[in-house]
Amino acid sequence: MKKIEEFNSRKNRKIEHIKFYLKSEHENSTLFEDIYLEHNALPELSFEDINTKTLFLNKKVDYPIMINAITGGTDFSQEINRQLSCIASEFNIPIAVGSQTIALYDEKSRESFKVVRKIMKDGVVIGNLGSTATVEEAKVAIDMIEADALQLHLNVAQELVMNEGDRDFKGILNNIENIVKNINKPLIVKEVGFGISKDVAKRLNDIGVSYIDISGSGGTNFIEIEGIRRDDIDFTDLYSWGIPTALSLIKCIAVNKNLNIIASGGIKSSQDIVKSLCIGASMVGISGEILKRLLEGGYDLAYNYIEGLTHKLKILMLLLGKKDIEELTKTPYKVKGELKELI
Ligand code: FNR
Repeated sequence: MKKIEEFNSRKNRKIEHIKFYLKSEHENSTLFEDIYLEHNALPELSFEDINTKTLFLNKKVDYPIMINAITGGTDFSQEINRQLSCIASEFNIPIAVGSQTIALYDEKSRESFKVVRKIMKDGVVIGNLGSTATVEEAKVAIDMIEADALQLHLNVAQELVMNEGDRDFKGILNNIENIVKNINKPLIVKEVGFGISKDVAKRLNDIGVSYIDISGSGGTNFIEIEGIRRDDIDFTDLYSWGIPTALSLIKCIAVNKNLNIIASGGIKSSQDIVKSLCIGASMVGISGEILKRLLEGGYDLAYNYIEGLTHKLKILMLLLGKKDIEELTKTPYKVKGELKELI
């Protein structure tokens, strides 16, 4: 009986996250506006020369843009995952599912995750669990969707604002080390919108984690989303918490050149994507902006959004005189304003 109640409350929470994401309105800055890229008036390239293909998790993808973790576990989530997978498959870009925790013990909810692999065929599909998962659970989550990698999310700020959230965060690093050493797929450790500091990236790198998704602040804000779910405490004074995405990215890139850094958190525009790649990200993740379009404007609006980003990525590459992603990631950039101060 307790298990059923737990499943139901988890399912309700998933739906509320989406509902309250749409209601959230506080905006922090990613500080990407403080990155300056120089225009090249003599690129000596034609638009057709621009190659946006890249290798990610040992598979070829057409663009360094991914649909990041959002949902799963309910019929509503299944439909969202189905539509997002169709878009990811059309553009041959990676997609991550939302937390699979519910599906570990509730067989009925597995279809809402499996649909992603069915539609993506051989494309890049990434699993997702919380960082307290066991090795056994990690293996089940990977097998469930034949995942190319598993994301483990760090969401301390979110848990602390949730009434029913965790309060004990001891032993997480050891647990991640145990998982990274005992699964046969790459592990991606990710935040959910508050950023990864240089020190945390180093500690993760030291235990063998080679993929970090920084998911910084400037986009989806789980302090606000969870705050709206509560009526006993006003959390508005914490809404500005977090490491801006551009700052987190610059700091984490400096840790180790062999570390693969995924930029996410507040990615909205093609300039955000290009700036992330110039700083050195190997992939750029989007959750909130595509979800908003899908829910408010339907499949076509979400599809057009990604189509526009891919087209403008090519335009910007040409304007920088860079013919492929490898060249793009070596583009010099200047830092100004608040971002410069924080660095
Ligand atoms: C998320 N995110 C998320 N992350 C994760 O690791 N597991 C999850 O289950 C979810 N669930 C989820 C639900 C909803 C409705 C949203 C909008 C987001 C976090 C997401 O992957 C990402 O890290 C942050 O949202 C920051 O990126 P954006 O949204 O600013 O692009």
